Amino acid sequence: MSGGYRTGMLSKDNPHERERLESIQGSVDAVTAGILDTLGVGPSWHCLELGAGAGSIAYWLAERCRDGRVVAADIDTRYLDPARYANLDVQEADVTDDGYAPGRFDLIHARYLLCHLPARDAVLARAATWLKPGGWLVVEEPFQLAADTSPFPLVRRLMAAYERRYAAHGADLTWARSVPSLLARNGLTDVDYRGNLARMGCLGKDRWAPLIKQAGPSLVADGLITDAELAQFFEMLADPAFIDIPQVTISAWARCPESDD
Ligand SMILES: C[S@@+](CC[C@H](N)C(=O)[O-])C[C@H]1O[C@@H](n2cnc3c(N)ncnc32)[C@H](O)[C@@H]1O
Repeated sequence: MSGGYRTGMLSKDNPHERERLESIQGSVDAVTAGILDTLGVGPSWHCLELGAGAGSIAYWLAERCRDGRVVAADIDTRYLDPARYANLDVQEADVTDDGYAPGRFDLIHARYLLCHLPARDAVLARAATWLKPGGWLVVEEPFQLAADTSPFPLVRRLMAAYERRYAAHGADLTWARSVPSLLARNGLTDVDYRGNLARMGCLGKDRWAPLIKQAGPSLVADGLITDAELAQFFEMLADPAFIDIPQVTISAWARCPESDD
């Protein structure tokens, strides 16, 4: 079950999906790379990038792990370039069905993927078994701040509509909060986590408009907002006082215990 990713609003058939994924990469890649640096990703590591999207983290890992291998898995791989690195395997896979051998990877990374999958807890539990002893699982997911706490009435309506639409395709935009404890409950150790605030408005620093551009037509078609409200949102981006924080990304990581022998 892939929510709206195979055919729905979030499918790569949507002409704005690539722009949305590239905006996501632009806003969080530096944080992700910082975490992966801290974990000491090594040149011979075997890595798995789940829900690789437009590929930036898979490529970052392939660059780092020149003597290792990187599997970039996605239900729809059309934005991934398998020819970019010799040590990169692009695999079309549905993480809710497809799996890997136990103890295979030094690092598994998943970002903005599991919140969309109703089987998210089970997929995380299975991913933990694919780690080598000492290997790291890094999960980064959005935690949506309550829509009705926005200082902007229009954003309250827009974000309430956005949450309804995501919930309708099976996403849970608050699940991120349970990830650190889930990592521990799946037998992983050295659990740690951090948060990264999303930017909406902020004159020139907005990372949210591409998400609204992509989702907007579906929200209008469902009668959740009007075309005029959508247009008003894009006009507000020129206002220096339009600054909001719709979401926090929670990044959490933990490792498989080293074996005793
Ligand atoms: C929001 S995008 C995130 C992309 C990337 N992880 C990033 O953060 O830049 C989610 C990605 O997960 C993929 N995806 C969704 N459901 C999936 C599934 N069941 N198995 C594998 N990939 C899936 C989508 O095709 C999409 O590329």
